[in-house]
Amino acid sequence: MAGSRASQPTVVRTRCELDGVLALARGAERRVGLVPTMGALHAGHAALLREARADADLVVTSIFVNPLQFAPGEDLHRYPRTWDADLETCAREGVDVVLAPDVADIYPDGPDGGVSVDPGPLGAVLEGAARPGHFRGVLTVVAALVGLVRPATAWFGAKDYQQLVLVRRMVRQLSQRVDVRGVPIVREPDGLALSSRNGYLDADQRRDATALWRALQAGSGRGSAGPAEVESAARAVLDGVSGLWPDYVSVVAPDLAKPPDSGPSRLLVAARIGETRLIDNAAVDLGLSAGGG
Ligand code: PAF
Repeated sequence: MAGSRASQPTVVRTRCELDGVLALARGAERRVGLVPTMGALHAGHAALLREARADADLVVTSIFVNPLQFAPGEDLHRYPRTWDADLETCAREGVDVVLAPDVADIYPDGPDGGVSVDPGPLGAVLEGAARPGHFRGVLTVVAALVGLVRPATAWFGAKDYQQLVLVRRMVRQLSQRVDVRGVPIVREPDGLALSSRNGYLDADQRRDATALWRALQAGSGRGSAGPAEVESAARAVLDGVSGLWPDYVSVVAPDLAKPPDSGPSRLLVAARIGETRLIDNAAVDLGLSAGGG
């Protein structure tokens, strides 16, 4: 049952089942934490679950492949579904409740039911420019999950940096009573950021994919020369890999606005390798000595 780290999490599939589990937790004044996921859990997700476990009395993770955040022609149908392994990860990380709803439980009027969260102009740049409608889908499902679970805190990975910024903005703008926390990117030993989509890569593509991390390192090492130099150093690394098609290489302020002349900023990169789109990002100190992370 909920609360014991060695035990299997309680799996709930409907609003009604979730309400039952949460009513018990709230009656006992337990702090509820939420880790929203689409499953295919890897060590990056495990890091989120660990943060949640250290903070919350009752850890809920959702496993829901959200159709609304995939554009037609994207990988909705081949997105990895690894239920048994995911449950093992949840048990190992001490998750209390796994929420695995059907589409109808999240979207009672259907995913295109007419009501959704508009991410505003920041949802149409960078990832949003390449994936129209993506952040509308992400924010709508996160709003639904927050409404269902009503957590005190929710954790998101920093690899999806634009998503993290937009979720924070939504929560502020819509006065949602949840503390949003970002968790640093988890990387393979060769620097590749962990992603459920890394499994799509064959051996050559997997090798080429390390270029994203090398580009971030090259770019962040040029922080003292300003954003244009950062971008061109990063782009040169990506351009040097023949099987990789860079999409954007962009320095932005931490809130995704225009970068400052000096101070903390973020370098964001996206590239396609074969059919697989990969993203990554790192901190850059503009006008100061080099930074990364
Ligand atoms: O980052 C993800 O896995 C998804 O975008 C999220 C936040 C679970 C919403 O579906």
